[in-house]
Amino acid sequence: MVDDRLRTPGAVRDAERFTAHNYHPLPVVIASAEGAWLTDVDGRRYLDCLAGYSALNFGHRHPGLIAAAHAQLDRLTLTSRAFIHDQFADFCRELAELCGKDLVLPMNTGAEAVETGIKVARKWGYQVKGVPAGQANIVVAEGNFHGRTTTIVSFSTDEDARADFGPYTPGFTVVPYGDLDALAAAIDDNTVAVLLEPIQGEQGVVVPPEGYLPGVRRVCTERNVLLVADEIQSGLGRTGATFACEHEGVVPDMYLLGKALGGGIVPVSAVAANADVLGVLKPGQHGSTFGGNPLACAVATEVVRLLATGEFQRRSAELGERLHAGLQSLVGKGLVAVRGRGLWAGLDIDPTLMTGRQACERLMERGVLAKDTHGSTLRLAPPLVITAEEIDHAVAQLAAVLAG
Ligand SMILES: Cc1ncc(COP(=O)(O)O)c(C=O)c1O
Repeated sequence: MVDDRLRTPGAVRDAERFTAHNYHPLPVVIASAEGAWLTDVDGRRYLDCLAGYSALNFGHRHPGLIAAAHAQLDRLTLTSRAFIHDQFADFCRELAELCGKDLVLPMNTGAEAVETGIKVARKWGYQVKGVPAGQANIVVAEGNFHGRTTTIVSFSTDEDARADFGPYTPGFTVVPYGDLDALAAAIDDNTVAVLLEPIQGEQGVVVPPEGYLPGVRRVCTERNVLLVADEIQSGLGRTGATFACEHEGVVPDMYLLGKALGGGIVPVSAVAANADVLGVLKPGQHGSTFGGNPLACAVATEVVRLLATGEFQRRSAELGERLHAGLQSLVGKGLVAVRGRGLWAGLDIDPTLMTGRQACERLMERGVLAKDTHGSTLRLAPPLVITAEEIDHAVAQLAAVLAG
C-alpha cells in the first residue's frame, strides 16, 4: 500500500502525466545531492552509481565548480559568439592543451559535438583530401551510440533509436566493432573519417580487443582518413586516464567531448583538433548561440583545471581496480560477465535471474542508483569522488540483489 505521507508517488505521477514518455525513469524523485550521494523528496539517500551517464565525474556540486558558476553568474552569462567574452580564450587554450591539439570548437550537447565532427570531417574531405563533391563517406561501428539527431540516428544499429525517424542521412558505412579487417575493407578513396567510441558505453561498456584502436590509427594514417574519437562518455577521467584512447597509446585526429566537461552544471561540449582539420571552418559556416558562452566556459575551465591535476584520473584507475575486483567476485554468483576500465563497468546479469531493469529497481530499494542497458546488462559509472568504502557498499548491495 502506498504511504500517502510520502511525496514520491504523487511526484512520479505528475512527472509522467506532463511529459512525453521518451524515458522510463526509475520511480525516484531526487531533490538534492552532494558528492556521490542523492537525496529524494522523502529524505531517502542513494549512492549515485550512474553519475548522469558520466556528466557528473566530479560528483554533485563539486565546491570548485559551484564557486566558478556562482562567480560567473554574478558577472556575465551570455554574449553569443558575435562578441568575445573574457572567459573564452582561457577555456579554449586550456582545453586545447589538455587535448594536445591546436584548436577547440565549443558547442553544448554531445550530439552537437558529433554533428560538428561530421561536418568538419566532410569539409576536410572535400577541401583537403580532394574527395569529389557530395561523395564523402564516414565509417562507423555497429552498436554505436553518438546521440539523437536525425543524422546520427541514421547510422545507429539500435532499432529503438532509429526506426521511423527516416528518411535517413546517407554517407555512413557500418562495420562490426572490434574487427579491424572489416574496418580496413570498408575504407575507400572517398572515406573522410572513421568515427568510433574507444569504449562503447551505451552498448554495455564494451572494450574492443587489445590492438584494435592502434590498428585503426594505423589504417587511418595510411589511407589519409581522420580518426574521430567520440570520448563524450569515455573521456575526462572516467577510465583512469584523461582519454580512453590513451590506454593503447592512440592519438586521434579529433576528440569529441561533452558530458563531464560541463561539470554537471551546464551542457558543454567541444571538438578538439589541429589547425589543418578544424581550420577548414570559416566565419558563417558553423555555430551555436549558446556554444562557448561565458557561464559554460567559466565552469568548463575549472573542469579542465581539475583534470590537469591528474587526481581524478588516478582515483578512477585505483578505485576502478577495487570496483572491478569486487564485481569479478560476483561472476558465477549472478553475474555472467564484467567489462570496463577505471570506474566504469558493464555487467551482464544471468538473464534467468532478472532483467537489468529489475536489478536497478532492487538496487534502488537498497539505496543504490544504477541504469540498465539492453536486456540484462547494467552499467555502473559512479562519480570519481566515490570512496573505497562506498564502492564496497555498492558491490555488497549488488551481491544481495543477485542472491535474491
Ligand atoms: C559516446 C556518446 N556520444 C554522444 C552522446 C550524446 O550526448 P548528448 O546526450 O549530450 O547529446 C552520448 C550520450 O550518451 C554518448 O554516450
